[in-house]
Amino acid sequence: MNIAIRYYTKTGNTKKLADAIAEAVGVPAESVDVPLEEPIDVLFLGSSVYAAGVDGEVKDFIASLDVEMVKKVVNFSTAALLPSTFSQVTKLLSRRGIPIDEREFHCRGKFKFMHSSHPDQEDLNKAQTFATGILNKL
Ligand SMILES: Cc1cc2nc3c(=O)[nH]c(=O)nc-3n(C[C@H](O)[C@H](O)[C@H](O)COP(=O)(O)O)c2cc1C
Repeated sequence: MNIAIRYYTKTGNTKKLADAIAEAVGVPAESVDVPLEEPIDVLFLGSSVYAAGVDGEVKDFIASLDVEMVKKVVNFSTAALLPSTFSQVTKLLSRRGIPIDEREFHCRGKFKFMHSSHPDQEDLNKAQTFATGILNKL
């Protein structure tokens, strides 16, 4: 099974989740500016909320995906206050005809004076358990 991890981060929070997932599933976590180079069964895609939306780079990455190359996306995200990026990412992917798993991982991310320690070690452990759980039950 081919697995890939891509993420977008501005301040490092989502990268922490991506790196934890990478350690758990044994593939490197790369930024969304690194294109996929082979057909992928499970693409873990990490994003965050900025001014209530995902960054344009995440939109561009999804727009650039080859529908024949990606069997399924699994969303993970961080945000200070808002819920996860799942619904936005789902909309973007559905326009492309790319399936997204209903399971997602989301946790709080540090922003200014809020959630100063997050993602913390417990968040990272949960992200790892989530990712291995996905692969064990596709
Ligand atoms: C420019 C900017 C805008 C943000 N806007 C929101 C927002 O509208 N709602 C929210 O819940 N969090 C917002 N946040 C907080 C981020 O979603 C949170 O810090 C997230 O963990 C950042 O992920 P990153 O470190 O991977 O970039 C914002 C953060 C930044 C830097």
